[in-house]
Amino acid sequence: MNEFLWVVYPYLCLTVLVVGTLARYNYDQIGWTSKSSELLEKRMLRTGSLLFHWGIIFVFFGHVAGLLVPIEVYQAIGISERMYHLGAMVMGGITGLMTLAGLALLLLRRLGVKRVLRNTAPADWVALGFLIATVAMGLLMTLGYNATHLPYEYRTTVGPWIRGVLLLHPDARLMSQVPLILQIHILTALGLFAVSPFTRLVHVWSLPLAYLRRAPMQYRRRTAASAQGSRRRVAAKQRAGRTSAERREPHA
Ligand code: HEM
Repeated sequence: MNEFLWVVYPYLCLTVLVVGTLARYNYDQIGWTSKSSELLEKRMLRTGSLLFHWGIIFVFFGHVAGLLVPIEVYQAIGISERMYHLGAMVMGGITGLMTLAGLALLLLRRLGVKRVLRNTAPADWVALGFLIATVAMGLLMTLGYNATHLPYEYRTTVGPWIRGVLLLHPDARLMSQVPLILQIHILTALGLFAVSPFTRLVHVWSLPLAYLRRAPMQYRRRTAASAQGSRRRVAAKQRAGRTSAERREPHA
């Protein structure tokens, strides 16, 4: 069972993520969107979406720092275990709460605003369910478990395990003693990766990098004076167009 959960299941989920994303890109580029519902309701979306997206970006960098950087690096630069876990609990707690609050607001909006509810597909509920379960279990571990027990040292178990998965030599034994809450967190996270290609979460891969190289566009507020100015410019252009046409066809 241990081998299945921590070797077979992760690769199954990651394979579905990669193959599913490539297949969706090939067959459904028109549907490749976050399906924004901004036109249906704006106020709750703005707050919920900002909280969720900023929260999850910081949580992502926290995971990179905690799981991909070996514990020896922290020891070499003099960051003690106590210092690390205090920082991780404070930063992880704040950013995790931001993410969960954003998700809760987005869920309330989806349930409470009729037009949004009617435009919610089953895949949206699946994505939301996996997101809430994953974030809630992660936060329960960071704030609940660590505050009531000694902080759990995942840098010697989950860290080397996930690096093993990424380097294609996973060791399931590293995961057998991990607290159940954290195990459930990781299993739901892997499930989230597997379902994401079939949901609006595909928009994660659409970073608008071209925007960085694009010439800036200027948007100006249309005031009465500028509207009058642009009407004059259009009229002048039309007059110029007419006279050059008359010059080309003098007898017309
Ligand atoms: C296989 C992938 C993942 C692994 C191995 C993993 C592992 C962890 C670990 C070790 C913690 C710290 C627990 C503690 O403080 O003792 C954590 C916390 C957390 N995780 Fe994950 N996680 C994964 C994916 C995700 C995903 C996809 C999300 C969001 C959708 C997420 C959201 C969170 C949150 C909100 C917390 C609490 C805040 C924090 O400590 O950063 N995790 N996770």
